[in-house]
Amino acid sequence: MTLFPLTVRGAQTVRRGRVLVGPVDLDLTGAGATVVMGPNGSGKTTLLRLLHGAARLTAGQIKWASDEGYARTQQGFVFQRPVMLRRTVLENLMYPLRMRGVGKADAQLQAREWGERVGLADLLDRAAPHLSGGEQQKLALARAMITQPQVLFLDEPTAALDGRATREIEAVLHAAKASGMQLILSTHDLGQAKRLADEVVFMLHGRVHEHSTARNFFDAPKSLQARAFLRGDIVE
Ligand SMILES: Nc1ncnc2c1ncn2[C@@H]1O[C@H](COP(=O)(O)OP(=O)(O)OP(=O)(O)O)[C@@H](O)[C@H]1O
Ligand SMILES: [Mg+2]
Repeated sequence: MTLFPLTVRGAQTVRRGRVLVGPVDLDLTGAGATVVMGPNGSGKTTLLRLLHGAARLTAGQIKWASDEGYARTQQGFVFQRPVMLRRTVLENLMYPLRMRGVGKADAQLQAREWGERVGLADLLDRAAPHLSGGEQQKLALARAMITQPQVLFLDEPTAALDGRATREIEAVLHAAKASGMQLILSTHDLGQAKRLADEVVFMLHGRVHEHSTARNFFDAPKSLQARAFLRGDIVE
């Protein structure tokens, strides 16, 4: 069962009388990687959380092509600052599988495999909270991917990482894309957006300001604001 297209109609989230995001209309067809860009406070994190069902919708609708229960099992989320269990790396990796009823031996095998894939093979017995920021982010990524969801949300997954860790994470994301996983990620890193994006959702003041193919967005942005943003100017 496929989750796409994802249809968003009049989606809005309001906190204490203030509109944080919306109203948003958006159709995502599952084109590979959707990169959400925009200035600080434009609503990228809130939009990702809304699409994932982790933020409350005040008005409007967000509908996956499949039924809601199934859609929920087919999504992973990587936060900007990873949340670790106070257990070993291996146990952190096994956890989502064990929650889904995978047997211990099988879960351990898959956990080792994924640890290897993200370059944590030597750290499997380390307590996860003692990992460096970059290592924690790799662990968070592997833990979100280990159940092989159809859709993976990532909120600025490499914001605090150096060039090398960023490249390593991007390599995993490219492999994920090649395997057919759909990525919906926010980033402030223009280079990263260009390397990963198939399409771009440009947010401004809580609204979708522009939604186009990566090529059109980077080569010929439609709006003044997107052009200014791409130049690195302040966008208001
Ligand atoms: N829990 C909350 N309560 C009240 N306001 C919030 C909350 N979360 C976000 N906001 C507000 O909603 C707006 C959108 O925030 P959001 O975090 O989605 O932006 P963003 O584009 O992800 O920004 P950044 O680039 O800084 O990560 C901002 O004005 C922010 O202050
Ligand atoms: Mg954010």
